[in-house]
Amino acid sequence: MSKNIIFSGMQPSGVPHIGNYFGAIKNWADLQDDYNCLYCIVDLHAITIRQDPAELHKNSLNALALYIAAGLDPDKNILYIQSHYKGHTELSWLLSCFSYMGELGRMTQYKDKSANNPDNINLGLFAYPTLQAADILLFGSHLVPIGDDQKQHLELTRDIATRFNNIYGDIFTIPEVFTPKTGARIKRLSDPEKKMSKSDGEANYVAILDPADVVMKKFKRAVTDSDTEIRHDPENKPGVSSLLEIYAVATGTSIKSAEADFDGKQYGFLKTTVAQAVIDNVTNPIQEKYNDLIKNPDYLHQVAKKNAEKAAEIGEPILTNVKKAIGLLL
Ligand code: TYM
Repeated sequence: MSKNIIFSGMQPSGVPHIGNYFGAIKNWADLQDDYNCLYCIVDLHAITIRQDPAELHKNSLNALALYIAAGLDPDKNILYIQSHYKGHTELSWLLSCFSYMGELGRMTQYKDKSANNPDNINLGLFAYPTLQAADILLFGSHLVPIGDDQKQHLELTRDIATRFNNIYGDIFTIPEVFTPKTGARIKRLSDPEKKMSKSDGEANYVAILDPADVVMKKFKRAVTDSDTEIRHDPENKPGVSSLLEIYAVATGTSIKSAEADFDGKQYGFLKTTVAQAVIDNVTNPIQEKYNDLIKNPDYLHQVAKKNAEKAAEIGEPILTNVKKAIGLLL
């Protein structure tokens, strides 16, 4: 029997941070043996916010190198660039006729991004979740591994697919969400009430490509509290709890045993130990492979091209079914 399908993606806007890694990429790597996986670099989503062309161009190929360096096998997984397969935009238009203005307007990401970019509230930004639904539904995806902040978009994807199926029959697979138990919402080190986000500026997030001394410096500045006890209590001790969560996911231990490791220790020790765990287990090993991979852009272009073709092989029959169901003349 063929394996179930996974789809997930990341925007090539800037360098990914440890939130992207723990919330998504790490889990993609963990799931790659049990599913047929498509892991996409969603450049068409990124342009809903104005991008510098040269940066976007560079970041797209670098993101592919980073996927591979983070452990995604390019022969086993379909790693590709969204704009290389036209099926995404084609299905997105079809689904836009089944997406309601009201539900799109309620999306938290749309509200946040329009508040941050008041002079560029464009149609693409509004329709963003419909394109995301198209990404997922185009391949009959069963599972979508994402961080917490994308759950609302996944719910909407399920609503759109169900609405379509209720009219035309069982065309779309209704996807399930996968979020990790720990790491689904990594917080800002400088403000542990907020999630770590690329739009916050580099000082506020730990980028996967930050050199070790920068990672250490950022963790040393992490906000804790005026108490001294190291325990996991997100409500009352958000900073300390967030550091314990990062330590747990970086070392593959539970929160309980992370707490035990720091029993009776001071905050300074907690910060430097968590930083070192991130450096040893995440940033350093990824950077070593990444630096090798980006020396060979021809290889990366080849991977992107070959895998976009593989994506099209899966997507085209589904797209044809959708068109037939709607009544388009083929
Ligand atoms: P993006 O590019 O913002 O983020 C990529 C992935 O990283 C997760 N993430 C986090 N996880 C934990 N803690 C954080 N602080 C954190 N910040 C980000 C995100 O939840 C995401 O899983 N719309 C998507 C990209 C997308 C997509 C898709 C995802 C487009 N089409 C189809 C899944 C399926 C986005 O902007 O992710």
